Amino acid sequence: MKEVFEQIWKSNRWARSGKYPKAGAGSTKKYCKDLLEKLEPLVGERVFIDLGCNDKKNWLPEAFTESERYFGIDIVEDCGPNLVCNILEIEEWKRHIPEGPKFFFIKDVLQHWETSEVETWMEQIIGSLEEDDVLCTINAVSDSEERSFKKQYAPIKYGRKPFHHDYGAKVEQVLQDWKPRRREVLIWRKVKA
Ligand SMILES: C[S@@+](CC[C@H](N)C(=O)[O-])C[C@H]1O[C@@H](n2cnc3c(N)ncnc32)[C@H](O)[C@@H]1O
Repeated sequence: MKEVFEQIWKSNRWARSGKYPKAGAGSTKKYCKDLLEKLEPLVGERVFIDLGCNDKKNWLPEAFTESERYFGIDIVEDCGPNLVCNILEIEEWKRHIPEGPKFFFIKDVLQHWETSEVETWMEQIIGSLEEDDVLCTINAVSDSEERSFKKQYAPIKYGRKPFHHDYGAKVEQVLQDWKPRRREVLIWRKVKA
C-alpha cells in the first residue's frame, strides 16, 4: 500500500493538469471552503487528527495545520505529515497523537481501501472512541457497487456495506448540503452504554 501511494504522489496521478493540489480537484481551498466553515464548530476545542492528510496545506489554512491542535498522518513521507504511518495500524499511530478529546477526520481515503479493510477499521476506530471524541468520514459517492483498491478510485456510500453496519456508533448526516459536491459527510459518535 505504501508503494502505491508513494507512486501516486510522485507521478501526480490525481492532479495531472497541474491545476489542482496533489490530492485532486476535491481538495482545493475553494471547493472545501464551506466544508471548513461547517467543520469548525464541530471540531471546537478538540485535537484534529487528519488521517490521510496528503499535503495538509491543500485546503486547510496554514494557521490551522500549524497549531498544536492539528496532527496529520499519512503513509507518504514526502507529503510532510506530522507522523508517517499506515492508518490501518490504529494502535501504532494512537501512541503518538496529542492528548485531549479528538476529532478524527478521514476525507477521500476510505474509498481507496478494500471493503473488508474499511469494515475492520471502522469497527476498531469506533470501538476506541472516548465519550467526547467525534469521527468524521468523507467519501466520494456513487451508485456503483464496484470498489477496488487496484483501480485507485473506489466509491462507497452510506446505507450500503460497509457503512450500513452497526458499529456501536450513531451517525449524524449533519453536512447534507455538501452532497451536491459528490461527497458524503458523516459524523459518528459512540452510542452511550
Ligand atoms: C485522495 S488523498 C486525500 C488527502 C486529503 N485527506 C484530502 O482530502 O485532501 C488520500 C491520501 O490518503 C493517504 N492514505 C491512503 N491510505 C492510507 C493508509 N492506509 N495509511 C496512511 N495514509 C493513507 C494517501 O497517501 C493520500 O495522501
